[in-house]
Amino acid sequence: MKSINIKEFGSLDNLVFGSYHEPILGEEEVLIEVYCAGVSFADILVVEGKYQDTPELPFVPGLEVSGMIKKIGNNVKNLKIGDEVVALTKWGGFSELVCVNTSFVYRKSENMDFDVAACMTINYGTSYHALVERARIKKDDKILILGASGGIGLSAIEIAKAVGSSVTAAASSERKLSVCAEYGADNLILTTNDNIKDSLKDSKERKFDIIYDTLGGNYSEDSLSFISWEGQLLIVGFATGKIPKINSNKLLLKGCSALGIFWGPFARGNTNFNLSCIKELNKLYDEKKIKLVSPKLFHMEEFKEAFLEIKNRKSIGKICLHTDLFSKGR
Ligand SMILES: NC(=O)c1ccc[n+]([C@@H]2O[C@H](COP(=O)([O-])OP(=O)(O)OC[C@H]3O[C@@H](n4cnc5c(N)ncnc54)[C@H](OP(=O)(O)O)[C@@H]3O)[C@@H](O)[C@H]2O)c1
Repeated sequence: MKSINIKEFGSLDNLVFGSYHEPILGEEEVLIEVYCAGVSFADILVVEGKYQDTPELPFVPGLEVSGMIKKIGNNVKNLKIGDEVVALTKWGGFSELVCVNTSFVYRKSENMDFDVAACMTINYGTSYHALVERARIKKDDKILILGASGGIGLSAIEIAKAVGSSVTAAASSERKLSVCAEYGADNLILTTNDNIKDSLKDSKERKFDIIYDTLGGNYSEDSLSFISWEGQLLIVGFATGKIPKINSNKLLLKGCSALGIFWGPFARGNTNFNLSCIKELNKLYDEKKIKLVSPKLFHMEEFKEAFLEIKNRKSIGKICLHTDLFSKGR
């Protein structure tokens, strides 16, 4: 089987696409023939050795996949060979075959394409957890999404709109903003030269019940001046690479709160609850209340090009790698 291996942290040149042994199947696991694997901002951090927790080198990265079950472990009762599934792999997803514990394998909606399905779990899982479970977003809430054209940002737009909220999307180009509008954003903010303050001063909306922050840096504190009384700042990520220091007097003056969101450990620690979230997302999709991001596709061999799209801020929405097996699922 072929997979992408990290031999050393640092640069994309340390990744090798080559032939390796098939993984050994555990009793509670299924072996998945991978059709598609979602590529996230986190994968760039993994390659650079900046991710919070990584296994010992060498290893196969890749956090989420879609595909078909090829083998099942001795103790597996709820899934069978031939099932079309989506899985949270933690590691090993950038490969033609991966073994995954059944707690992290979900049946794919039959209406969903494999590339869309492979790219749903992390982004929509995070935004659903952040907005619905943590912030308890309400109809008519006004939400500002920073980094709105990224994978996480577009999923937040869709979930907020499904609830009935009013969405202001901030992104760095007109092209990116037009995609935010396609996914339902009501109000668009162009952030030239990373300046959110001036852009918000001229905005139609200037008070937000929820600020969904995927960027960090100066964006976090600058946008706090525009939060409503008792609003919520959701700290989701630091795509700028800068972790901001937020002055607590700003929180006091607005009676507002800052909530840290870390979906991965939440999903791994609450498997049944997470399964119900994934079912809810499938239902929203089947009922056409969310359309899900259609990713830009690359063959797994073209992984460097794919990773560079994210690293160089060229990507809009999500990037997806596919294997030769992808054509079987079409
Ligand atoms: N908390 C969690 O559980 C969780 C889960 C998943 C991801 N995340 C984090 O969420 C963040 C976004 O992830 P993603 O998958 O949406 O990434 P993505 O698809 O690459 O999107 C990130 C967006 O951030 C903006 N950006 C990137 N670098 C920037 C910079 N230097 N300055 C300003 N803006 C920049 C870009 O939009 P513009 O060019 O328009 O600015 C880009 O579209 C990452 O930090 C990721 O680690 C957190």
